[in-house]
Amino acid sequence: MARCLVTRELPGPALDRLREAHEVDVWPERLPPAYGELRRRAAEAEGLLSLLTDRIDAALIHASPKLRAISNYAVGYDNVDVEAASARGIPVGNTPDVLTQATADLTFALLLAAARRLPQAAAAVTDGDWLTWEPAQHLGYDVHGATLGIVGMGRIGRAVAQRAEGFQMRVLTTGSAGGTPLARLLRESDFVSLHCPLTPATRHLIDTEALHAMRPTAILVNTARGPIVDQPALTRALSDGEIAGAALDVTDPEPLGADDRLLSAPNLIVAPHIGSATHSAREQMATLAVENLLAALNGEPMPHQVEVTRS
Ligand code: DGY
Repeated sequence: MARCLVTRELPGPALDRLREAHEVDVWPERLPPAYGELRRRAAEAEGLLSLLTDRIDAALIHASPKLRAISNYAVGYDNVDVEAASARGIPVGNTPDVLTQATADLTFALLLAAARRLPQAAAAVTDGDWLTWEPAQHLGYDVHGATLGIVGMGRIGRAVAQRAEGFQMRVLTTGSAGGTPLARLLRESDFVSLHCPLTPATRHLIDTEALHAMRPTAILVNTARGPIVDQPALTRALSDGEIAGAALDVTDPEPLGADDRLLSAPNLIVAPHIGSATHSAREQMATLAVENLLAALNGEPMPHQVEVTRS
């Protein structure tokens, strides 16, 4: 029996399977454990099931001598120092595939909502501003037949491209395996949707220059990671009308303070990182995260173990 730290309650029955095999310490609060508390608890653990809100850095890994497995409850793992874990021979797992379709659905929900100005139109109804049917009120942009630029053609990027087919969109793609050069994609797209992982190479990929290259009628959608976008640059681009709108499921930082300057920008939708937030996706993520941990604690390869990429 190994001691496992799970940094939050998870939906579905998966944690019961972990409890049957091991001694499980589940952080009971709604907010994540503060770094010091996380480090203190991880120091006693052999298995760690972390969330994207937990910073699992080299210092924490070094201060956890018993640690044998880290299982991250997310497909992204930029919160974990995989190199430091690997140097100690600790495998790191993630939860791919099971959230692909949910995240692609949310991407399209944001894209459609921003294009058709849905939040503004719905607010007009509750604000008593629905005076009559007006020819030039709430005008947005066509999604059908428009050009969609997908940055990052992994599983989620491909699932978004499939949805775009149904809207008869022209799809341009760019990613580590090539495709349309980013500069051309930005110039030609009506919608730019980000689906790359956060790495040193993609941090602030969408900066002042990139936003400047986009069309004044273009809309930026980000369901990947907040720091891929230079947020002050985006705030300026929206305020100056350099692009037509942005719909973000991820921000930098998270959560975004209610007084963050970004929120004063026009034509902006921000969701609180809900890409994978369906009952089914979140329960399946829990299953994968638990299976990764059980396997590693049993001395077997994790079913979904991440590769170490040296930066
Ligand atoms: C992930 O898995 O990386 C998402 O951001 C949250 O589900």
